[in-house]
Amino acid sequence: MSKSRFSRRDFLQNTAGAAGALAAAPSMFLKPEYIPSALEKVAPSDRLRFGIIGIGMQGSGLLTAALTLPGVECIAACDLYDGRHTLAKEIVGHSIPTTRRYQDLLDNKEIDCLIAAVPDHWHKQVVVDAVSAGKDIYCEKPMSHSAADGLAMVAAYQKTGRIVQIGSQRVSSVICAKAKEILAQGTIGTLTLVEGSLGRNDPTGAWEYPPPPDLSPSNLDWDTWQGTVPKVPFNPNIFARWRCWKEYGTGLAGDLLVHLVSGMNYMLGWNAPPKKAMSLGAILRFPDGRNMPDVHATLFDYGGAPVYLRLNLGCDTPEIYRFQGSKGILEVTEYAITYYPQTGEDSGPSYYTSGYPQKMRDAYVADWHAKNDPPPGKEPVLEGFTFRGDSWDDERPHLWKYFSGVKSRQPVVEDAVFGNNAALACHMSNESYFQKSAVIWDAASGTIKAV
Ligand SMILES: NC(=O)c1ccc[n+]([C@@H]2O[C@H](COP(=O)([O-])OP(=O)(O)OC[C@H]3O[C@@H](n4cnc5c(N)ncnc54)[C@H](O)[C@@H]3O)[C@@H](O)[C@H]2O)c1
Repeated sequence: MSKSRFSRRDFLQNTAGAAGALAAAPSMFLKPEYIPSALEKVAPSDRLRFGIIGIGMQGSGLLTAALTLPGVECIAACDLYDGRHTLAKEIVGHSIPTTRRYQDLLDNKEIDCLIAAVPDHWHKQVVVDAVSAGKDIYCEKPMSHSAADGLAMVAAYQKTGRIVQIGSQRVSSVICAKAKEILAQGTIGTLTLVEGSLGRNDPTGAWEYPPPPDLSPSNLDWDTWQGTVPKVPFNPNIFARWRCWKEYGTGLAGDLLVHLVSGMNYMLGWNAPPKKAMSLGAILRFPDGRNMPDVHATLFDYGGAPVYLRLNLGCDTPEIYRFQGSKGILEVTEYAITYYPQTGEDSGPSYYTSGYPQKMRDAYVADWHAKNDPPPGKEPVLEGFTFRGDSWDDERPHLWKYFSGVKSRQPVVEDAVFGNNAALACHMSNESYFQKSAVIWDAASGTIKAV
C-alpha cells in the first residue's frame, strides 16, 4: 500500500491512535546490594560462629555462599550421612567438628546461630529445637511440611523471640525489591490478575537425582533420617529423591511454588495465607513410583485479584511472573523486570458500532474522533522500561540479611510468620490436588478444609 493512502488520522488510529505510541523501552541496571568482601576485617567481638545442619545439595551451596561473607565462620557441621561430613570439611577448607546429632550443635555454646538445609519432613523439629535451645536459625523453604508443623514453628518462634529466617532467597533480591517499589507506586494501575509459571523437562529437574554410590546403612543413620514417618527399609532413592513422596517432601508446591508465592507476597506486600485454593495436577511425565504430581496448577483467592500459578516438570518454560493491571503488565523474571504499559482507554471508535446502521455509525465515529484525537504533535507516548539486576536465586544477599539480623536483633523480612503464610499456600495447593476439591484456610481451627 502506498504511503500517500494513509492520512495522519489513519496512522494514529491504525497504530496506537489516541492510546498513544509505544516508546522504545529504556533498560537500566540495578545496583547490587552492597555486601562487604569476606576479606574485610571484622572485630573478633563482632564475628559470628555458625553451625550447619544438612550439607546436601542445598546446604553445600549455602555453606559455600556463607563463607564468602565477612565476619562469619562455620565451626561445626551435622549430617546423618558421613559423606557430607567430608564435604563440609572440604568446603570449609579445614577440619571442623562433625556429628550426626544436631543436638550437639544446639548444646555447643560457641555456636551463635544455625543454618539448616534438611528435607522438609525435618524442618519443624529442627527449628523448634533450635529456637528452644536459644539459637537463631536460617531454615530452608518450604518452612513446614504440613499446616500443623507450621503453626508449631510460629508458636516456638514467637515464644522464644529468636531470629528465624526462611530460605526463599528471592525475597532478598534487588529484582524483587525494585518490582515491589514499582508495584507500590501503582504503575500497573488496579491489579487485576497475577500469573506465574515455571517449567522443566529433564530427569534432574524432576528430582530423579543419583544417590551417592557409597550410601549404606553403615555411613547413614537411615532410621533417624526417616524421622516420624512410618519406617521403610533402607532406600537410597528415597534419600536422594525425597521430593517425589509426600511423606518427606511437599512436591512441586513446596519445592518450586513456594518460591513463586514468597516472591509474590514480598513484591505485593502481602503476608497472609490465601483464602482459597483450587488445584489440578497429575503424574504425566515421570511415573517413577512418586506420589506427588509432576504437573501442578493452582488458582488462589487472596481476596482480590486472582492468582494463577503453574508448575510443570514435563515441559521447559521460563520462570516468570506477570502482574496484570489496568495500566499494563509488569513482567518479572530472574534477571529482569519489564513494564509493558497500557492506557486502559479505547484506542479507536468502539467496534460495537459495527452493529449501528451506517448513518448512526458515521456520526458516532466522527464524534469520537472529534473528542478523542490528540492535537497534532501532542500524541501521547507510552513509556515502558526494563530493569536488569543480579539473579534472584543468589543466596548471598539472603544469608547476609540473616547474619545482619542475628547481629542487630532486628526482625528479618522472611521470618517464621512470612514463611508460614507462603508454606500454607503450598499445603493448600497439595490438599486441593489430593482431595480433588477447592480448599480454604480455616484460621479459627488452624486447618485446611475442603469446600
Ligand atoms: N532455596 C532454594 O533454592 C533451595 C534449593 C534446593 C533445596 N532447598 C531446600 O533445602 C532443603 C534440603 O534440600 P536438599 O536438596 O539439600 O536435600 P538433600 O537431601 O540433598 O540434603 C539434605 C541433607 O540433610 C541431611 N539430614 C536429613 N535429616 C537430618 C537430620 N535430622 N539431622 C541432620 N541431617 C539431616 C541428609 O542426610 C542430607 O545430607 C529442603 O528443604 C529443600 O526444599 C532450597
